[in-house]
Amino acid sequence: MTKEQLQSLLESLTLEEKVGQLVQCNAGQFIKNQMEITGPEGEMLPAEDLNRVMGSVLTFEDASQAKALQEKHLAADPKKIPLLLMLDVIHGLRTTYPIPLAIGCSFDDSLMAECADMARKESAACGVHVTFNPMVDTARDGRWGRIMETNSEEPLINSRMGAAVVRATQGEDLGNPENVACCVKHYAAYGAGEAGRDYNGVELSERILRETYLPAYKACLDAGARLVMPSFNSLNGVPSVANKWLMNKVLREEWGFGGVVISDYDAVGELVTHGVAEDLKDAARLAMEAGCDIDMVKNAYYLHLADLVREGAVSEEALDRAVFRVLSLKNELGLFENPLRGADEEKEKALYLCPAHREIARRAAEESAVLLKNDGILPLPRTARRLALIGPFAETQHLVGFWSRPGAWKDAVTLPEGIRALAPDTELLIETGCSAAIGDTDESGIMKAVAAARAAEAVILALGEKEDDSGEGRSRAELTLPGMQLELARRVIEANPHTVVVLFNGRPLALTKLEKIAPAILEMWYPGTEAGNAAARLLFGEANPCGKLSVSLPRSVGQLPMSYSRMNTGRPKPGPDSQAFPFSSCYLDTPNLPLYSFGYGLSYTDFAYSSLTLDRETLEKGGSLTVTVTVANRGQAAGKEAVQLYMRDLKASVVRPVQQLIDYKKVFLAPGETARVTFTVTEPQLRFWNFDCEFVSEPGTFALSTGFADHLILTKTFEFL
Ligand code: BGC
Repeated sequence: MTKEQLQSLLESLTLEEKVGQLVQCNAGQFIKNQMEITGPEGEMLPAEDLNRVMGSVLTFEDASQAKALQEKHLAADPKKIPLLLMLDVIHGLRTTYPIPLAIGCSFDDSLMAECADMARKESAACGVHVTFNPMVDTARDGRWGRIMETNSEEPLINSRMGAAVVRATQGEDLGNPENVACCVKHYAAYGAGEAGRDYNGVELSERILRETYLPAYKACLDAGARLVMPSFNSLNGVPSVANKWLMNKVLREEWGFGGVVISDYDAVGELVTHGVAEDLKDAARLAMEAGCDIDMVKNAYYLHLADLVREGAVSEEALDRAVFRVLSLKNELGLFENPLRGADEEKEKALYLCPAHREIARRAAEESAVLLKNDGILPLPRTARRLALIGPFAETQHLVGFWSRPGAWKDAVTLPEGIRALAPDTELLIETGCSAAIGDTDESGIMKAVAAARAAEAVILALGEKEDDSGEGRSRAELTLPGMQLELARRVIEANPHTVVVLFNGRPLALTKLEKIAPAILEMWYPGTEAGNAAARLLFGEANPCGKLSVSLPRSVGQLPMSYSRMNTGRPKPGPDSQAFPFSSCYLDTPNLPLYSFGYGLSYTDFAYSSLTLDRETLEKGGSLTVTVTVANRGQAAGKEAVQLYMRDLKASVVRPVQQLIDYKKVFLAPGETARVTFTVTEPQLRFWNFDCEFVSEPGTFALSTGFADHLILTKTFEFL
């Protein structure tokens, strides 16, 4: 449709029909499906009335449901305006790839893009028009269960990977039914909820908000994301969906965002619960004033918006602008010409879990895993006659993680399946030992596990968190391994010191006690469909671990929130290993540094760094500086290395981080091979938000280093003039 045609369609709509375009319902109200709903349902209204006018639905299962929903709606809608069908496709649709936090550890934007591209194909075939992805909430507190949905604690990684997802998902042309529109979320600072509790309020200075939390959303919008979802939390006192500063001033005016804003699930209604709206009608008014176009599920708009317009509390122009944005998105997606769009049962069959997609998922799982510790027992020999496979994750398929389709876990490859595929002659003694349930104190299975450990040459001990214990609404106050798992580990390792711990979890756990006793630890996160194959290949050395932590692993909850890019204090602790001096910034009972730092991860080979060189000693605005570092593979195995570049601004008008990742590149090196890795540094990378909240760079000395956080090496300085 041309813009003029769209405009006349808008003008032909009744007030109720206009409002309908801003109403989003759960698909489950119109068809039977098993998708999990993540909040309270809106008031149950007559489904036929809603179906006639509603503009979009969310959470449906497959192409046949997508078609049924669209056909049913079009048959009832006198204006024949197709529905927008939306779905959370967070880490794959049917072929599940690792959770975003895991992919962050790959330090590989192109791998993220490959995964998103596969999800795009499966989503398009399923009939998805809009995915509620990417989620780029920078998070620095592992208590928050949704940290699994983000790539990192570092905004640079979230920005680059988020933008990669947007480009891969939306493609060049959204009119192509193979491409899917992205909704970036949750705007803003949802990851900074007080005390790591989900939905909790956030109080942040504008400077830190802009420096740490806003860049990733902005990067996704710059990459073209068509929709934005405001977050559940209040930001400096006002819930995001009604936060005019955030939505009108920053998003629309400053950033020029012209796309669709959709509330989070029930978030408009929750303005009443927050205590900032009188009632649902008032909530609808507040959300409209903040430029929220679509009301997800709560029916605040459906029930009250027309009255608000009739009474003059909301202007018809504001309503028209919101409706026009929704109609424009439908038009851009080609829905008026092709309402069933990509939905195609045959394509679903051909794409879901196809070998090519499995291969991507497996590779992604391998490259996201982080080898935390290895006293030399990994990789395991494939010739072992008898291995014990112990732990609550020894045999389970629940390895895909939260935000996957119902039943996606049923497609997951288990550890025994993966191991048997590689070492068919090895006998496996499998024992669960204990559960991973929070609060479970049942030790009765440990004896049998110990017996299996004794009888085997080596043990693979699969521990972690239950899939449902991280994700939305899953905050924890303890970050140790739940239940009796640590006790299981103690007894098994005592029985057989040749024990490798493999972890399946969604958040940065505090592994302090485990680290003391385990000879080797491989962090797999939730690897997705190909879990067992990827883990087995890593354990037996068919694949070489190359993940680096995209989030710091704390020693204890007491260190949270924590970020490697911490600010200095006037009394920094004299040295990381020094005795705590009472009057310095330190804890009496634990070191300041995490157990495993951001950017850390081992390999089966040995990478040596040398000669970091800068091509110039000075940099001026508009100029650039080339940084080169030599990386050599000195070991016996081929491997990939994520080369990281850190910066420190030695003196500025406001306190700056002691280390800040400003670039990264992943290189592959055969044994004996050497690479010169090059980075370009330009003035915009030196900018920060000053006290007056201006984005500036200031002249002075800057240090550049490589290595990883808290272990910087080869530092060189330059002057910014
Ligand atoms: C979540 C969003 C999600 C939405 C729709 C909410 O509970 O916060 O991330 O996109 O549900 O499923």
